[in-house]
Amino acid sequence: MNVYIETLGCQMNRLDSELITGQLLAAGYEITDDLEAADVFLINTCSVRAQAENKVYSRLGREAAIKRRRIVGVLGCLAQRRGASLLKRYPFVDIICGPGQLHALGEMIRHAAKGERTVACDPDRRDGRAVFASEGNSSIDSLDHDRNASVGSPAQAYVRIMRGCDKFCTYCIVPFVRGPEISRSPEAIYQEVKQLADAGRGEITLLGQTVNSYRYSAGDTSIRFSDLLERLAAIGGVRRLRFVTSYPTDFGGDILQTMRDLPNICRYIHCPPQSGSDRILKAMNRKYTRAQYDSFIDRAYDYLPDVTIAGDFIVGFPGERESDHQASADLIRRSRFKNSFIFKYSARPGTVGAKTLKDDVPFEVKRERNRELLAVQAEVSLEHFRSFTGRQVELLVEGPSPLAGKPINVSDDPNCVQMLGRTSGDHITVFQGPESLAGQYVNARVTGATAFTLFAEFCGGGERS
Ligand code: 5AD
Ligand code: SF4
Repeated sequence: MNVYIETLGCQMNRLDSELITGQLLAAGYEITDDLEAADVFLINTCSVRAQAENKVYSRLGREAAIKRRRIVGVLGCLAQRRGASLLKRYPFVDIICGPGQLHALGEMIRHAAKGERTVACDPDRRDGRAVFASEGNSSIDSLDHDRNASVGSPAQAYVRIMRGCDKFCTYCIVPFVRGPEISRSPEAIYQEVKQLADAGRGEITLLGQTVNSYRYSAGDTSIRFSDLLERLAAIGGVRRLRFVTSYPTDFGGDILQTMRDLPNICRYIHCPPQSGSDRILKAMNRKYTRAQYDSFIDRAYDYLPDVTIAGDFIVGFPGERESDHQASADLIRRSRFKNSFIFKYSARPGTVGAKTLKDDVPFEVKRERNRELLAVQAEVSLEHFRSFTGRQVELLVEGPSPLAGKPINVSDDPNCVQMLGRTSGDHITVFQGPESLAGQYVNARVTGATAFTLFAEFCGGGERS
């Protein structure tokens, strides 16, 4: 049977899709990128904003119009949030599978082939309570554990170090759909990273909703995130170690110090402030003040003068006034972010925000504030990217630049095309070079910049990671 997997949403979903791919291949299924010819259509969904959910609904609407009957599975966060209620509008769906149940997907497809439908979701979680923590604990590793290290991108890999979230920001659906925060054992993570590095995947990105809150306790010992970083960075073949996404108050000096001491930990921190205003941070149940966030940024630049920092913001949170919005703009300028992801608030069913706060900022105002923050960020980004001009950077080459649409060559060398790579600080960089550099580390000299991209000249390197 041919399986087509469509992936929406965050890196966690991309990792889940990669793990499912490995699992299904091992079970004898074939993976296809031809949607039309697929016998099984799986969609790994996102629920974080209303817009993300609408994408799934429109995709399922298109599927409904297809005459040919095939197995359809809805996976991930929307499946967890909606469960069997999805069947009312989409009765043709055979599998509804939350993120905590993906390890049994092969079996679900087998059942579907016999005409049996499966709805597999974790029990609901009420506000602030870890109602399925114990179940999560036993199955936490089951999907990650049997990983086939050679499925996926050849030079880069994601590794989950924890699941779920216990922060309960009032706008956020994640604690409900991804369950309670559980850290994986350091031994399991170590083995996984080692296997990936041995398979040539030397750039490892550690994933967690609040990745730096990682803590694993067994008996008398307790492993902090900084301890884990140190262990993983020492593995031969780990050329770059990244981690996303961080929570500000859990970013202790021990982590900054470990980063400073170990050059293969990327100079990159993604640590969303969400807002620059104390009033809004409080209403969001973010557990820090503006002053605390500012002091985290100062400490980060103090320890790591060359660090790149990125943020997320929500505009139009309930009750947000113009002065709160200006505080966010000020925070972007002060923090000198490389980039920010900026989202318009949307109420998520079941969250404290949706239940108790009125979504009172008009859509036009949200749109305007979104546009304004993007413009402020673009100014800051341009300054940041331009500061690299003339410098030499190391790139991990991803392949021909998709920015161009199709491979283009503006150099004198007929063997060159526009290639795309990334610095340790996560700067997208384009340069002219041979396609054979894909998956390799090269040096390049920066000749110019926009607010999103560095332009560079290839100046050598090109060893395998
Ligand atoms: N509305 C808008 N943006 C949201 N995010 C999370 N929940 C919501 C919501 N209800 C944003 C946050 C988070 C990012 C992944 O998505 O900025 O960091
Ligand atoms: Fe959501 Fe807040 Fe947890 Fe991030 S820290 S996943 S925003 S609840």
